[in-house]
Order: sequence, then structure tokens, then C-alpha cells
Amino acid sequence: MLNWRINFNFVDRSKNMFYDLAASTWGEEEINAIRRTIDAGQFTMGEQVATFEKEFAKYFGMRYGVMVNSGSSGNLIGVAALFYKKERPLQRGDEVIVPAVSWSTTFHPLQQYGLKLRIVDVELDTLNIDANKLERALTPKTRMIVAVSILGNPAALDIIQKFSHEHGLYLFEDNCESMDAELAGRKTGTFGHVNTFSFFFSHHISTMEGGIVLTDDSELNHLLRSLRAHGWTRDLPRSSPIFEPRGSDHFEAYRFILPGYNVRPLEICGAIGREQLKKLPSMTAGRRRNLALFQKLFAGDDRFILQRENGKSSCFSFTLILNPAHNANRESVFAALREADIGFRMITGGCFLKHDVIEYYNYVVVDGGVPNAEVVHDRGFFVGNQAHDITPQIERLREVLDRACR
Ligand SMILES: Cc1ncc(COP(=O)(O)O)c(C=O)c1O
Repeated sequence: MLNWRINFNFVDRSKNMFYDLAASTWGEEEINAIRRTIDAGQFTMGEQVATFEKEFAKYFGMRYGVMVNSGSSGNLIGVAALFYKKERPLQRGDEVIVPAVSWSTTFHPLQQYGLKLRIVDVELDTLNIDANKLERALTPKTRMIVAVSILGNPAALDIIQKFSHEHGLYLFEDNCESMDAELAGRKTGTFGHVNTFSFFFSHHISTMEGGIVLTDDSELNHLLRSLRAHGWTRDLPRSSPIFEPRGSDHFEAYRFILPGYNVRPLEICGAIGREQLKKLPSMTAGRRRNLALFQKLFAGDDRFILQRENGKSSCFSFTLILNPAHNANRESVFAALREADIGFRMITGGCFLKHDVIEYYNYVVVDGGVPNAEVVHDRGFFVGNQAHDITPQIERLREVLDRACR
């Protein structure tokens, strides 16, 4: 008899918090999908993953989806694929423009592939890269921009896309935090040559661990499929643009053409993803209802800098920065949140320059500093949003912060 009690290490399951960072969105549908997959006896990547890839790409109006075992793996093979394009491949030593605030694995593949980072400050209100600084970040060696929409809020993707186009740069959208967000009616995660998503537990849809890369480029699609699985040709049709079939079946079965990885998802994750995707629109609507309440309760209170929506946020969570113009003490605010049993975390890992790992990177800080990212790091935090109604939690948050910042 299987025990379907689910444990997550993102949140503290040793107790139920009053206001947790995230909650499971799995119901009977997901559990039944797992059961069906087990009954079918297919555990390694198969039909469910392939169908989910098509359904997910269709939802976003993109041609190809390549599912992987995490958003981080999506970033890894996404960057790798750009190094193996026939024309205009990325090369070691090329420069890439990145925001100062994002998750560690937005950056790590760039370091691993020998790219030099040009780090640009973020806007204090949107928390996304300051697009006014793109021109100053550009050098003759710049080949790519990595755009990240932080915690559901679209980056200035329209401006960034136009800029990339004008300067012949690749646009890489790490959309791992902003599934189903929109800018001028277009979904985030569709602006880039490569676009990545995460299905980790706390994200908009969850396959527990998982991710996907979307692209409209057929060559990239094939490169990604080979890089996902050992660098072999086995998952590619014989008409693939990236290799010529030649040998006997015996040799074709183990034909390696790229220095790839094994970052395949499990079949179960594909089956769960299909169920979760059906719920995505209603879950986003639920998140946005909570956002409306949060915005209403905190509006006009300049002790806090809230995330300003650019377009339509899919509201991963609610961010707050203790306004440096007021002298609220961070530690006492954090203590009050702990006391009230409200979970909170640093905004997307804070300012990347403040992490020890930066010593391994080749980088330049555009304009010599990232003052906004430092404020985000030192005085910012997020609390959870969920797909269901969390009115009592948001109201309690309001009271607690009001008291703690008096
Ligand atoms: C911006 C960003 N990129 C990449 C990732 C990595 O996704 P995963 O946890 O699925 O590896 C995350 C994780 O939250 C993220 O926030």
C-alpha cells in the first residue's frame, strides 16, 4: 500500500505554519495520474512527457518544448545549446548582460561555459533589470541578454527584446519564477530564443522537481533534445538538422554528437504536469485575487516598497522592502514575522554579487555598483502567495508589519 502523504523540503513540514511560503496544489487528479503511470509500467521518459511538452508549448503559443528534471537543468542545456548552433554560436569569452538579482542557477551555466557577466542593477520597484542601463552595458563582445521576471512580475521584455534584436544578441528568458505572467497580452517565457520554466514544488505548477525549455527554433529544439540525454542522437528523428544518419542501427543506437548531460525528467512528472497545466489558468486567477487584496491593504504605506506590476503579474509571492527612508529595524521585523508564524525569505536569493560564489566568476559591474540590488538584499523579503484564498493570512501580515514598523 503506497502512502500518499507528501513531504516537501521547501517548507517546514514539522509543523503547519499559519502563513506558509507555499502549499501543495495536487489533488486526486495528480495522484491518479501517478497511479496510471505506475500501472502502465512506464517510468523513464515516454509518452506522457512527450504529450506534456506539446501541450505546454501550445499553451504558450511556442513551437517546441523540451522537458527536463529542473528549471536549473533548463538553464544549463539552454545555454549549452547556444554554443552548438551552426551559425553564430556563443563562444567562451563572449559577454552576457544579466540582472544583479536572480537565482544562482540563472548564472551558473554562464560561468560554466566561460561567459563574462555584465551585471546590471535592478529597479527597486519592479525588482527587474533596469532596461535604461542596457545601452551602457553593451560592448562589442556582448552576445546575449538574460532576462528574468522576478517572482511573477514581467521584466521589460518588450524593450529588452527590441534591444536584443537591434544589436543581434541572443535573448535568454529565465522565466522560472513567472509562468503565466503577461506583458501587453503576451506571455512571459515566449520572448526569448530560449525560454526556461521551473516546476519545482513552490512554483505556479509543480511536478515536484521539473522544468521545460521553450523555443521556436528547430535547430535549438534538436540540440536541446540531444543535450538532455547524453548528447546522443537517439531522441532525434532521422531528418534532424543537427546530424546525418549514417551507420548501422547498431552504431546509431549509441551515437554521441554533443558533450551532453542526462537531465531527463521522469515519466511520472510528465503525467503530473499535464494535470497541473489544466489548472494553471484558475490557479493564476486565484493568485491574482490574493494580489489584489495585498495591494489594497498595503497601498499608500511608504514604509514598504512593494513590487510594482509591469503588465500582468502571475504573482509568485508578495515582496516587501523596508523603505530605507524609514528606520524600521530589519531584525525586529523578522522577529515579529517569526512570532506570528509567517514564513518569509530573501527575494530570489538577493544580490548575486553578495554571494561567496562570485569569486569564481568573470564579471564586470555596469556603472560600478548595484545600489538597488543591495537594498533588495539587505532590506527586502517575500512572503508566500498561493492559488487558494489566503485572506486571513494577508490580513494578519498587514497587522503584524504595521505594528513591527511603528
Ligand atoms: C529565476 C530562477 N531560475 C531558475 C531556478 C531554478 O529552478 P529549479 O529549482 O527548478 O531548478 C529558479 C528556482 O526557483 C529561479 O527562481
